[in-house]
Amino acid sequence: MNQLICPAQSMSGWVRVPGDRSVTVRGVLLGSIADGTSRLMDYLDCDDTRAAIHIMQQLGAGIRNEGHTLIVEGRGLRGLTPASAPLYCDSSGTTMRLLAGLLAGQSFASVLDGSPQLRRRPMRRVTEPLNRMGASISDRDGCAPLHIPGAMLRGISYTLPIASAQIKSALLLAGLYAQGNTAIEEPILTRDHTERIMELMGAHIQRRANLITLDPTPGGLASIDLTVPTDFSSAAFFLVAACIHPQADLRLKQVGLNPTRTGLLDALRAMGARIEVESVDDAGEPIGDIAVRSSALRAITVGGERVARMIDEFPVFAVAATQAQGVTTVRDAEELRVKESNRIDGLVEELRKMGAHIDAAPDGFVVEGPTHLRGAVVDARGDHRMAMALAVAGLIAHGETIITGAECVSKTYPDFFRDLARLAPEAVQ
Ligand code: S3P
Repeated sequence: MNQLICPAQSMSGWVRVPGDRSVTVRGVLLGSIADGTSRLMDYLDCDDTRAAIHIMQQLGAGIRNEGHTLIVEGRGLRGLTPASAPLYCDSSGTTMRLLAGLLAGQSFASVLDGSPQLRRRPMRRVTEPLNRMGASISDRDGCAPLHIPGAMLRGISYTLPIASAQIKSALLLAGLYAQGNTAIEEPILTRDHTERIMELMGAHIQRRANLITLDPTPGGLASIDLTVPTDFSSAAFFLVAACIHPQADLRLKQVGLNPTRTGLLDALRAMGARIEVESVDDAGEPIGDIAVRSSALRAITVGGERVARMIDEFPVFAVAATQAQGVTTVRDAEELRVKESNRIDGLVEELRKMGAHIDAAPDGFVVEGPTHLRGAVVDARGDHRMAMALAVAGLIAHGETIITGAECVSKTYPDFFRDLARLAPEAVQ
C-alpha cells in the first residue's frame, strides 16, 4: 500500500492510542498458563497479538474476545497440549522469544517459525541461556525456525549481555518450569511488564535494584483481570508530531507511562519540548494524560541507560532531531540494526531522501538540524515504526510524501492513519 501524506496545516484535538503490544502479548502467554480465566481489558488487536493468540489457542488455551476485552481461559502451568504444526509467530519477535522460554520446559516438543523478516532476526540471544537451563533448543544459523524438544529445566544465574526485555522475559517464563531459582541481573533496566504481571499472578518473584529472582511457584499462577495501558510507543508518533509542527496542540489520553518505557518523554523535555503530564491512574501500570504543543527543540545526545527506555522510539526521535537546533547524537544503540529492519541504515537512507542531514554511526546516528524537509517517495522497509515515523516527517515536509509498503503499520497500530487523519484531516489522503 502506498500512503500519501500531505503537509498538515495544523494539528489539534485528542487521541487515545491503542493498547500496549508488549503487555497484551505477555497477558496472552501468562494468562494461558494461569489457573482460571483472565481478562485483558482494552487489549491490542494487531498482527503481533493475533499471532500470539492463535499460537496459544493451538496449544490448548481458550481465547476469545468480548468487545474490547480478551478472555483467556488458562490451562495451568502444566495444562498446555502439543500443537500438530509449527507455531507461526508472523513477524513478532516478542512472541517468538518469549514463547521460546515458555515452551522450553514443557513435556512436549514444539517448533517456532515466522515470516521471512522474523527468520532473519537473531534468536541465539534467547536460545543460548535457555540451553544453559537444559532446554536443548536448535536453530538454523542462529535464527528461526527453532526446534524446542521440551525438557526438564534448572534455574540459572544470568547476567544479560544485551539490554533486552525479551531475553529477560524468556528466562523468567522458563524459570516458572525450572528446578531451583532463576536469577537475572540486568546491567541496564529494561521494560518490566513481565515482572509486574507475574507479581500480580502470585509468582514468587523478587526485584532488588538490577537483580530479579524467581523461586519455583508450586501453587501455579492465579488468573487476573488486567486493564492494558495504551502503548507509549504508539503515542510517541503523535508526541513528536506535535512538538515539531508549528501549529499543534494535542492531548494524548490515558497513555501508559511505565518508567521503563518513557525515555522519549525525558529526551524531548531535555530538548525543550512543551509537554505536560497529568497522572490519571496506577493500577498495575502508571497511566497519564499528556498535553503537547509546538516546541522549539534543541539538539541533545542520547546514550547509556536511556537507550533501553526508548529503544522503539528512535525512528521518530530521528525525525524530531531533524527539527532541533544543533547536532543530535544517538549512541549505544547498535540494537537498532536488528529490529524489524536495520533502523540505522534505513533512517539515514529514507530521511536523506527528504533532505535531512543525517549520518550513520556503528551504534547510532548523528543529525544536524534544523532542516526544511521536502516530500519524497520513501520506503517503510516492512517496518511499522519506520512507516509511522516517515508519516510524521511528511506532516511538516514541503510537498507530498508517498510511503511505500505502509500497510506494515498493522503490526502494532492498524488504525494509525485513521487516527492521524482525525488530528490533521488534510494530511492523510
Ligand atoms: C520488547 C522489547 C524490546 C522492544 C520490542 C518489544 C518486549 O526488544 O524493542 O519492540 O516486548 O519485550 P528487545 O528485548 O530486543 O530490546
